[in-house]
Amino acid sequence: MRPETAPANAPTVEDAIAVLKANDLGTYTVPTHGLYPFQWNWDSCLTALGQAHFDEARAWTEIETLFTHQWEDGMVPHIVFHKHDDGYFPGPDVWQTNRPVPTSGITQPPVAGFAVRRLFERASDKALAEQRARALLPKIAAWHDWFFRARDPEGTGLVAILHPWESGRDNSIDWDAALDRVPIDGVIPFRRRDTEHANPDHRPTQAQYERYIGLVQHFRGLGWDSARLHDASPFKVVDPGFNAILLRSCADLAALAEALGETKLATDARARAEAGIAALEMLWSEPSGQYLCLDRVTRELVESLSVGGLLAAFAPIPPHRAARLATRIEEVAATAQYLVPSHDPTDPRYDGRRYWRGPAWLIVNYMVADGLRAAGQPAIAERIEADSLALIAAGFAEYYDPITGEPCGGGKFTWTAAIAVEILTMSEKRS
Ligand code: GLC
Repeated sequence: MRPETAPANAPTVEDAIAVLKANDLGTYTVPTHGLYPFQWNWDSCLTALGQAHFDEARAWTEIETLFTHQWEDGMVPHIVFHKHDDGYFPGPDVWQTNRPVPTSGITQPPVAGFAVRRLFERASDKALAEQRARALLPKIAAWHDWFFRARDPEGTGLVAILHPWESGRDNSIDWDAALDRVPIDGVIPFRRRDTEHANPDHRPTQAQYERYIGLVQHFRGLGWDSARLHDASPFKVVDPGFNAILLRSCADLAALAEALGETKLATDARARAEAGIAALEMLWSEPSGQYLCLDRVTRELVESLSVGGLLAAFAPIPPHRAARLATRIEEVAATAQYLVPSHDPTDPRYDGRRYWRGPAWLIVNYMVADGLRAAGQPAIAERIEADSLALIAAGFAEYYDPITGEPCGGGKFTWTAAIAVEILTMSEKRS
């Protein structure tokens, strides 16, 4: 068992804030210098939660900058390439999205609705919060509309991701079988840059990278037209974690719209959340005790026990499902020192240091704990938060080996620091 008490040198809120400030480029924050030199979508929204504890206006700006680069069709891109930087692959020349400020052509987990409601409700400057939230509201609604239009053309209530990077869990075991079907003939030769900044043993493999780029080239060939991408994509997966984030954001947007007197928007967003929560049942696996991904090409559930199926707890799912997920996480806790591994450690495919194939990530921990606490499961939520704080004793790493606690990937990581500020401050307030 890991030690119950935090070590004497445990990082403080001030240490975490120093990381946020060091990575702040004024109107957006880079995830970490070197490895990720631009603005990432869900990183920014989660980062704002940490920033709000010391500078509310700056937190609003983080999200606003992202939405300044929203596409005309409503999509909010996963990367905004604010400035030229050769240290990252694939850059704007590969995406070719033809925007005034270059962006990628895919999206990321839509955590903005959740983040904006939280900033609004906690704001000490109410006038500022109302003004900034009111301006963001229709933009977030347009993003959600885009999801249901472009990524759920059959009206199932759940959306598909068309690229593993959209999930935010880039190289999860969840995608292996679907990714294997992506053709790689005609993929341009390329030089990866990520393995120059981080240990190659912690990063996705070359074979996976070829397929990631193959998908980008395929979509680029379709002119990034969202009306065509879904049906034409060889990769189409319905991820419970991704959908839970979207549905939680719909529910939070409804609450925010209600508070701002935008009744029509509130009614529409609430209806979406309710229909989606009902549809999530399609992804429930009774033998696994958790949700699973659905491959929309084969129409089969993917036998892969990842944290995506536990992250479903972030949405307002039925209490009996949340209770089962809490039990499932306790089962996982018997095989890992630190919750929550991104993949079940008993699976032979598990790899405790390779990115999303095993390591624990603080942002995911935060969302799982938040959902479980709201669903009346405070004990497991507290255990997850305590483990998160134990992990940062080794520094604000990108992610951690859930058995040894070893810090992996990039260092001085923005969203890890933001979540540390959030957990440290909120647990103090609760006690
Ligand atoms: C990696 C992660 C993704 C994150 C990005 C920037 O690609 O998988 O979730 O947004 O890094 O931190």
